[in-house]
Amino acid sequence: MATDLIDPPARVGQATAPRPLDTPVVLDVRDLKTHFTLTGGTVRAVDGVSYTLHRGRTLGIVGESGCGKSVTAQSVLGIVPRPGKNVGGTVTLTRRDGTNLELTSLDPRGREIRAIRGNEIAYIFQEPMSALSPIHTIGHQITEVIRLHTGASKDGARVRAEAVMRQVGLPRPDAVLDRYPHQLSGGMRQRAVIGIALACNPSVLIADEPTTALDVTTEAVILDLVRGLQEQNGMAIQFITHNLGVIAEIADEVVVMYMGRQVERAPVTELFRAPQHPYTQALLRSMPRLGRRAHERLEAIQGMVPDPFSVPPGCAFHTRCRHYVPGTCDTPEYREVAPRHWVRCSRAGEVS
Ligand SMILES: Nc1ncnc2c1ncn2[C@@H]1O[C@H](COP(=O)(O)OP(=O)(O)OP(=O)(O)O)[C@@H](O)[C@H]1O
Ligand SMILES: [Mg+2]
Repeated sequence: MATDLIDPPARVGQATAPRPLDTPVVLDVRDLKTHFTLTGGTVRAVDGVSYTLHRGRTLGIVGESGCGKSVTAQSVLGIVPRPGKNVGGTVTLTRRDGTNLELTSLDPRGREIRAIRGNEIAYIFQEPMSALSPIHTIGHQITEVIRLHTGASKDGARVRAEAVMRQVGLPRPDAVLDRYPHQLSGGMRQRAVIGIALACNPSVLIADEPTTALDVTTEAVILDLVRGLQEQNGMAIQFITHNLGVIAEIADEVVVMYMGRQVERAPVTELFRAPQHPYTQALLRSMPRLGRRAHERLEAIQGMVPDPFSVPPGCAFHTRCRHYVPGTCDTPEYREVAPRHWVRCSRAGEVS
């Protein structure tokens, strides 16, 4: 594919003022750890991740395949698949009534967390089809969610479902509700999935690669839709993707993950303007840009992601880093190098 046909990150470098990040915290994740104990050893899929989600703002989480983006989301929701286990850290939700609830203290199969999932915290899974049952109509699926969480009557849920389908831009919502997932186009299906996620007016939306299966045009339309809906209802969004172009479009703040840890966190414009971690810099160099010629090769990140059973000691990225200095890079601290800009690199500042 000609790389210069790919949409540029429109917001980056534009004069649009960044949105302030100091809105109230809705979800507070601290030192989250989730490990998988397998016969070959232990995979530290999430190894001390901390971040906050803010009302009306979007946190992008980015990193290569296997770095722990989905397991982080699953850990927040208490739906880590076996043999994965949350082995540390806290996740605190500020409820609609203003009280705080520590989700990590709840039984992951209990009633309390089930009343929150799909309701106050909505989520969109990485596999678009796994979010929908092929044997039920869209209407059945959305009204079930509404009835479960609000106790609405069948008719009341149907009215709400139609309103939500209209909100996500589906024409003739009554007809869409009577269709099965396979009868919709990819873009319509993803709108329906977003509609189901938003049906109960969540305060947090966790979206795991929600546009990856779509073509770039449909992706842009869906990203616009999500931003518009966020402006209407003020939800905090955790948006997971491996695509930095999408991050530039949607995120206010970004966490970059590598091998289960966050290596950098920054406001989105700052991350693109002054990336500090060599891994973030390498990701940016590997990103398609408008203006880059089609025949110009993108720079691949050198080396391979190490075996998850044996994370290199010291800086986990050192085996692939062109700036590695033995000794200096043995104990990288996670430190704030500018306001709201954190980086885990001993040489940050020297290597930008
Ligand atoms: N069900 C599982 N069983 C065993 N290990 C798992 C399981 N799910 C995830 N892992 C481990 O956790 C690590 C992180 O996986 P995760 O799915 O969070 O990656 P990701 O960043 O979402 O990747 P992708 O971009 O491919 O979706 C993987 O490298 C894998 O080793
Ligand atoms: Mg994933």
